[in-house]
Amino acid sequence: MVCLGNICRSPLAEGILKHKGREKEIALEVDSAGTSSWHKGELPDPRSIDVSKSRGIDISDQRSRPIIQEDFKIFDLILVMDNENYNNVLNLTTDKTLKKKVHRLLDYNPGSEVRQVPDPYWGGGFDYVFDLIDEACDCLCQNIQDGYLYPNIESEN
Ligand code: 4NP
Repeated sequence: MVCLGNICRSPLAEGILKHKGREKEIALEVDSAGTSSWHKGELPDPRSIDVSKSRGIDISDQRSRPIIQEDFKIFDLILVMDNENYNNVLNLTTDKTLKKKVHRLLDYNPGSEVRQVPDPYWGGGFDYVFDLIDEACDCLCQNIQDGYLYPNIESEN
């Protein structure tokens, strides 16, 4: 799960997907990272910690880190929150096979009213962001249980 700072959106996505994996008994290895290292080593934003706590998920064990080349090899999927993340992550590799792992998280939810998770850092809206990610992670789990890795909707970039 990748966003810009790895303190607001992708920590939520990591916590939510880990939680669903346990709940639905799907064996998943989930981690998150930022396209920047601005907040490296920091805890998630207190607003992300609070909103997930209110929904029964503890993300306070997470620490921000930047995405690294190893991530492209280790993980089957690299799921980004918005188009800026999408372009930045794609620019980190020239390998076409590895580029295929990169998808927008909300593209797993065909019913989503938006295709990007808005950056809540300056403007807030953490409950809305939680709900967007939560619904997309349900769809992602269903996809995986149905035997599909990639979303049905292709990114329009
Ligand atoms: P995130 O949010 O990408 O969801 O973690 C942000 C966190 C920090 C900044 C921007 C977005 N920042 O400008 O420091």
